[in-house]
Amino acid sequence: MPMSKTIIAPSILSANFADMGNEVKNLSAIGADWVHLDVMDGMFVPNLTFGFKMIKDIRPMSKLFFDAHLMIAQPKRYVKRFVESGADLVSFHYEAEYDIDGTLDIIKNAGCKCGLAINPDTDVDVIKPYLGKLDLILIMTVFPGFGGQKFIDGSLERIAKAKALRDEYAPNAVIEVDGGVNTDNAQSITKAGADVLVAGNAVFGAADRAVAVKQLRG
Ligand code: DX5
Ligand code: ZN
Repeated sequence: MPMSKTIIAPSILSANFADMGNEVKNLSAIGADWVHLDVMDGMFVPNLTFGFKMIKDIRPMSKLFFDAHLMIAQPKRYVKRFVESGADLVSFHYEAEYDIDGTLDIIKNAGCKCGLAINPDTDVDVIKPYLGKLDLILIMTVFPGFGGQKFIDGSLERIAKAKALRDEYAPNAVIEVDGGVNTDNAQSITKAGADVLVAGNAVFGAADRAVAVKQLRG
């Protein structure tokens, strides 16, 4: 999935859940590229968000690319159902699954793009064996579970390391950065190697969301 410009993926975790249809519908108008869907199970992370039904119901509200980020234990059990619910890409966590190859295969065989996410304290090198299969590498720059956290110092080096691995072994994969991205740090994150920027609070908390998207893209 080679990209010519930085992709902005607002996370609906920071949207108003009581008005989710309109929140998602509005994302094209403000210039967003993807819709980032944070799925949490209260096991892998200490928070619960939403699942298949939400994704299925908001799918008709937007033509944008649906980027599902699963923060759930043993995602192999459920990835196919996220594809069926309308996700264009399904990412899951390295730390949450024993059978990473098998899980990636299920997503790919279902005709969907796949991504692997790593926590801030996981060695970037762990992604190496899977690079041949990945469409996306998700570098977490906060510990997953909540929006509105601070970008962890030292994450730029991790992004650069992931980019070096991507350039060598998976030139078609994109690098996505998630957690604490804002209009002040977006440029340095992109410079370090990010192709896709997830932004929750920086978009949904902005006085003017369209301006925020534009500034994030740089
Ligand atoms: C964190 C989620 C993120 C989060 C980003 O567990 O994966 O996508 O919602 O929110 P901000 O941009 O507010 O840090
Ligand atoms: Zn996320």
